[in-house]
Amino acid sequence: MKDAIRHNFDLSPDAYGEYERMTGRFGTLADRLYEAMRARSSTPIRSYLDAGAGSGISTRRLLASGCSPVALDLSRSMLLENPADHRVQADFDTLPFAADTFDAVAFTASLFLTPEPDRAAREARRVLRSGGVVGAVAPIGWTATDGSDVFEPLDRQSRSPTGAEAVGDALRLSFSVEHGRWTFETTAENLRALHAIPAMAARLYPRLSPKERIERAQTLLADVDGPLEQHWRWFVGV
Ligand SMILES: C[S@@+](CC[C@H](N)C(=O)[O-])C[C@H]1O[C@@H](n2cnc3c(N)ncnc32)[C@H](O)[C@@H]1O
Repeated sequence: MKDAIRHNFDLSPDAYGEYERMTGRFGTLADRLYEAMRARSSTPIRSYLDAGAGSGISTRRLLASGCSPVALDLSRSMLLENPADHRVQADFDTLPFAADTFDAVAFTASLFLTPEPDRAAREARRVLRSGGVVGAVAPIGWTATDGSDVFEPLDRQSRSPTGAEAVGDALRLSFSVEHGRWTFETTAENLRALHAIPAMAARLYPRLSPKERIERAQTLLADVDGPLEQHWRWFVGV
């Protein structure tokens, strides 16, 4: 599965960037997550690991606040666009760092992409200094304004390798975790743009080729209409 995830993200930087230009969603998630992490940390955060840093949307938010994060990702193509001085191509389930290296580990929209998040959570615990803080966000889903699940009437679910609740369970094995929910107004057009990213269309049709899965996703979502809401779960642990 890791090879498939890496391959899918290697194909995704352009469409991922286009989605972010339309919505600003991942930048907003990063800002909110960092704010929640700083609020929970008893000491100033001087060193961050951006775990699953991708093309650098989350990394840029840290750079803008004066931090110099280490950006780690499985995908070389995503990392090539990341502006961090220190970039590492690696799996966050087996971190290539010594114990007690960081004050904070942030999984901005990444921890739900691994099938065994308990391993990544243990690794985050290991590389964090005493008093260090971990943060993660994971998608819950999309609803219409009447609260109905957008995917309910369709014959597909947009599934992550690990659901939001399982991400929380994994973090609780290694941390004392607080959690909450963020809801964003969005549109059917944005939902289609998200599923035009090869790695995201794989949520719907993992076995099809990238081209076919995007075509099928656009057909599936063609009649979705009206204002929508997207829901995310956040977790912060110490
Ligand atoms: C949705 S993107 C988020 C990227 C970035 N944090 C942002 O805010 O835009 C998820 C990233 O997690 C990476 N990823 C997924 N599983 C990973 C793993 N096991 N180890 C390292 N990176 C991983 C993917 O390659 C992808 O770049």
